[in-house]
Amino acid sequence: MLRTKRVHLAGVFPALIAGVLLCCGCGEAPQTPQDKGAKPGQAGATPVVAQPVPGEQGKQPAGIRIGFVVKQPEELWFQNEWKFARMAAEKYGFELLTLGASDGERVLNVIDTLGTKGAQGFVICAPETRMGPAIMARAQKYAMKVIAVDDQFVGADGKFMQVPYMGLSAREIGRNVGKALWAEMQRRQWPPAETAACAITYDELNTVKERTDGAAEALVEAGFPAERIFRSNERETTVPSAHEAASIVLTQHNDVKYWLVFSVNDEGVLGAVRALGERGLGADRTIGIGIGAGTGLLELKKETPSGFFGTVMISPYRHGYETTEMLYKWIKDGVPPPLDTRTAGVLATRENYKQVIKDLGLEDVAGDK
Ligand code: GLA
Repeated sequence: MLRTKRVHLAGVFPALIAGVLLCCGCGEAPQTPQDKGAKPGQAGATPVVAQPVPGEQGKQPAGIRIGFVVKQPEELWFQNEWKFARMAAEKYGFELLTLGASDGERVLNVIDTLGTKGAQGFVICAPETRMGPAIMARAQKYAMKVIAVDDQFVGADGKFMQVPYMGLSAREIGRNVGKALWAEMQRRQWPPAETAACAITYDELNTVKERTDGAAEALVEAGFPAERIFRSNERETTVPSAHEAASIVLTQHNDVKYWLVFSVNDEGVLGAVRALGERGLGADRTIGIGIGAGTGLLELKKETPSGFFGTVMISPYRHGYETTEMLYKWIKDGVPPPLDTRTAGVLATRENYKQVIKDLGLEDVAGDK
């Protein structure tokens, strides 16, 4: 299959390169210094044509080049993944190309860009998990290896694809959020009849749906009334979208005295916490617990506490460093990565976050180092 494709590709190679060169300018801009530097013969406009596509004739360029493509480069989580991926690149001496791709067209463009630059593989958090088959087909054209991170590819049959993946133990992490919310509510002795939960969800994406389902499940198991959990689906997994989604819930339930907040990530909780704060419901009336490794920490470090009580800290080190390390070893030594790797989370609050980030070796994400 691959062989047939290669032969076919060789025939259309000049046209493909022309297309890629056009696309290089229209996809989201590569963001590494390497990219910006446009070394002669690598990333510049014309010399790319002279470079063999890796795998085309069984030849590889001398050095190893690895891409790291993310769906939301503006989100701190993804910036931290890149930061740790760069550490792996420095340790092993490969070139890392970090690229943002916020929609399907851009994803295919950046894969072409990586292919023409001679990358032998990439790690990707795709903006749309159902693009899995299209991503794999495009990667195969350039004989590139692929590891999915954060968001798992879904095939045409609706099932997860057999592509190496590293993601969160999403249900468990969500359950930890629910348990911690309940424990803090108990500590404050908030009566359930005066308390409600605002859940900012994003059910289109499995790894994040599992998180909010897990939190709701643990709360209900602990004794929280299921009918007092109000769900609101955000349009995007961002602070403004969460703010919008929370505002709907708060308008509908403006008689609630105390609020618990959970969501798919720190941004989701922060958006809701902001909406609550604007209504005069601050740290004494809100317990919000996020999931992340950056945005929430910044909130915890602020002098005045908000309703953002804590975050289940996840590891951009594992998702950034370890994925690229696995890919590097796969390319260099032929060691295939495990098909499914799940990472854990640890609750961090104002009281313990310094210790938590130290224990997790994440001082880098907190700006303390
Ligand atoms: C998804 C979310 C991100 C982050 C990652 C962690 O991609 O959209 O905010 O939580 O999962 O794996």
